[in-house]
Amino acid sequence: MSDHDRDRCTVGVVGTGYVGLTTAACLAHLGHRVTGVDIDARKVAVLRRGDVPIAEPGLDTLVADGLATRRLTFTTDLTALAEADVVVLCVPTPTGPDGTADLRAYDAAVDAAAPVLAAHCVVAVKSTVPVGTTTRTARRLGRPAVSNPEFLREGHAAHDFLHPDRIVVGGSDPDAASRVASLYDGLTAPVVHTDPVSSELAKYASNAFLALKVSYVNVLADLCERLGADVVDVTDVMRLDPRIGSTFLSPGPGWGGSCLPKDTRALLHTATEAGADVALLADAVAANERQHERMARKVRQAVTGSPEGSLHGVRLGLLGVTFKAGTDDVRDSPALAVAQRLAAAGAVLTGYDPGVDRDGCPGTHGLVQLVDDVTLVAKDAAGLVLLTEWPQFRDLDWAHLAELTDRATIVDTRNLLDPPTLTRAGFTYFGLGR
Ligand code: UDX
Repeated sequence: MSDHDRDRCTVGVVGTGYVGLTTAACLAHLGHRVTGVDIDARKVAVLRRGDVPIAEPGLDTLVADGLATRRLTFTTDLTALAEADVVVLCVPTPTGPDGTADLRAYDAAVDAAAPVLAAHCVVAVKSTVPVGTTTRTARRLGRPAVSNPEFLREGHAAHDFLHPDRIVVGGSDPDAASRVASLYDGLTAPVVHTDPVSSELAKYASNAFLALKVSYVNVLADLCERLGADVVDVTDVMRLDPRIGSTFLSPGPGWGGSCLPKDTRALLHTATEAGADVALLADAVAANERQHERMARKVRQAVTGSPEGSLHGVRLGLLGVTFKAGTDDVRDSPALAVAQRLAAAGAVLTGYDPGVDRDGCPGTHGLVQLVDDVTLVAKDAAGLVLLTEWPQFRDLDWAHLAELTDRATIVDTRNLLDPPTLTRAGFTYFGLGR
């Protein structure tokens, strides 16, 4: 065993979903001996074969390497946690529409693991949990628990784990906290040590701020349209101010996905319970709903000449249904929220998305007929709506698509396309905030 190996920990990861699998594979890559534990035997069998069920760039290689070096194993047997120096909880914590988190699976995992853990083992809570849960978990386990939130973006999870902007360790027990921090030795990110409550809140505060920033720029785009300003130029000016930052300033159909909506609702619930001033955060969420409505009105304006124009029986072609480019995820997708409003106004929707195959997308059944050829989206359409910023949409044969449409109108809700290119191809082009 080299010195390097000797320093490394034996780690148990409970829950091998999107966060748990990424955590297990990356910690193995960092040299730890990792066992991923899941209650789903089918999932464990698939992972043991090295099949990675989620579309995350680089994750399959990390899993394959971990299996090959035997640093990474998967099991349904919780007693495997008895060897662990650290157990990382990555169990899903779904949040209801009112923002309350469902911790039944999380608590069940804690209770099942409790009797198995070695005396020296420390528990790290990586699941996104309501503020106060880490302390509650420590009491439930009768041992130290440390909050260690993740900041992984879908489509960049493995990269973000191995190149974090920051590592947050929220523990009241110094030894436990330093044991969890040591998992990340070798990564060059700043480690922020704080208490569990601040650590849990920092995760929600970060996501809610990202949501607020996008809602801000979406409202700004609406103002730009009314004033005849160009939101792309306005935000380019803003991006140059390091205090504002250069990202999360692109207007779109709204923010979605499996995290921001869930975490903003949870924070809103927590803040309301605490009697805090929630107006700003509440309106970031409300502005996001208004953005979906604004997009639907924009499409009706473009296609019928009036924001209230009837779309009854009108065929519309959607470019993109996922919540953002680079994923196959339609959970809380703003594209589908806009599609619902268009369908409610009577439109008949066909959609194409490079990340979603024609059959496997429950969120779209009965709402959008998915096709696997983008020309079928244009055929006889009274208008096209670009809702997800897939880069390959820039290189489509727009002249050919214009010929296929009934009316060559396009609403680009991501300002992805080059307006002169679309106009030359024969389209009447509508951007967002331009
Ligand atoms: C987010 C956080 O970025 C990540 O740190 C956290 O751990 C999980 O939630 P993710 O859900 O993958 O990650 O999505 P993200 O890339 O943050 O985008 C969220 C939404 O905002 C998407 O719908 C995206 O289209 C939208 N968005 C983002 C914009 O509309 N404009 C922007 O400029 C940026």
